[in-house]
Amino acid sequence: MSAASTPAPRVQRPSAETRWADELDRLADRDRRTGARVPDGWRLSPRSVVDFVLGDAGQRDGLGLETKFVGDRALVERCVVALATDRGLMLVGEPGTAKSFLSELLAAAVSGDSTLTVQGTASTTEDAITYSWNYALLLARGPSLDALVPAPVHRGMSTGAVVRFEEITRCPIETQDSLLSVLSDRVLVVPELEDEHRVLHARRGFSVIATANVRDRGVNDMSAALKRRFSFETIHPIADLRREAELVQRQSDAILADAGITAALPGDLTEVLVTMFAELRRGRTADGRPVEQLSTAMSTAEAVSVAVATGLSSAWFTGTPPRGEDVVGALLGTALKDSDEDRSRLRGYLTRVAKERGGRWQELHAARGLLDG
Ligand SMILES: Nc1ncnc2c1ncn2[C@@H]1O[C@H](COP(=O)(O)OP(=O)(O)OP(=O)(O)O)[C@@H](O)[C@H]1O
Ligand SMILES: [Mg+2]
Repeated sequence: MSAASTPAPRVQRPSAETRWADELDRLADRDRRTGARVPDGWRLSPRSVVDFVLGDAGQRDGLGLETKFVGDRALVERCVVALATDRGLMLVGEPGTAKSFLSELLAAAVSGDSTLTVQGTASTTEDAITYSWNYALLLARGPSLDALVPAPVHRGMSTGAVVRFEEITRCPIETQDSLLSVLSDRVLVVPELEDEHRVLHARRGFSVIATANVRDRGVNDMSAALKRRFSFETIHPIADLRREAELVQRQSDAILADAGITAALPGDLTEVLVTMFAELRRGRTADGRPVEQLSTAMSTAEAVSVAVATGLSSAWFTGTPPRGEDVVGALLGTALKDSDEDRSRLRGYLTRVAKERGGRWQELHAARGLLDG
């Protein structure tokens, strides 16, 4: 096959508005048919936004919306309300609890675009948040709208869209504070420009969803002034083991199927994986015995990665359906990273806790030697 006829590789991870474009259309259509009130600048009614985020499985007269974020309806409703107020929305929580995913889903449903995103790092500057300049044009023609390069906040304000600010607390406090007047006065001043372009008034629909990881917090905290301009919501790990196992199964099945692998993780193995993660996360077993917690966040996101790695390695290399030892192998690289202490804590867990249980647990117990390497 010549290079010219090789199909272009598919996108690794389409954004939510692309992946679920069909669902967003159906919801917009339902809003029109039922005359539901859609806030100014929004694509959907508040109820449709919530239905999109949570899915409508089990609802009578549902639209067949896929379950996406697994969480409390009341929490999602509060998030949607926050987006319609004059404050931003701040999602805080442990790593891997779907803060970023929830913010992506909300932005996709409210604005039809989840890509106006600032990634907060220690070196994020105000330019990356508000606007910068095309210096060639700036030198040639002086400051003008043509020479201005809008960053997500400028674009969100001028089009009336939700802007996502990932890991905001990793930015220096002075940089975070460039959001102060944006959030309180809904105004961005570009002092270099003249006349009508100097002051940008946010259009309706504009809002900010920020996320912050509690483990990173304190590295760079937030100013009290900025905190006052956000509604805070804490996202907790999924409390219900069955719902977490369903989610891990559903997501890993989908990712594996996408890679052309049909032998998904058997249900009982997924259950063992999720139980193990939950017990190590909480530091105690289901029947209340203490276990040593790992320094790695044993999050749902990590559980999905381990399930996928397990499925891939057994399909590609073992050639048998996934088993307990594949899970232990996948845990090594995916969840344990480079911590020797975590390795020995996990080994302790498999030695003591898994030993006493039947079924798949025995496969994990038998594979504990893999952790010695
Ligand atoms: N409640 C949940 N509902 C749906 N997916 C979840 C949930 N909790 C965890 N996940 C899984 O986690 C993945 C996304 O994690 P995400 O990156 O959004 O977490 P995060 O909280 O932003 O983590 P971090 O703090 O590391 O940035 C999802 O794709 C999904 O696999
Ligand atoms: Mg995140």
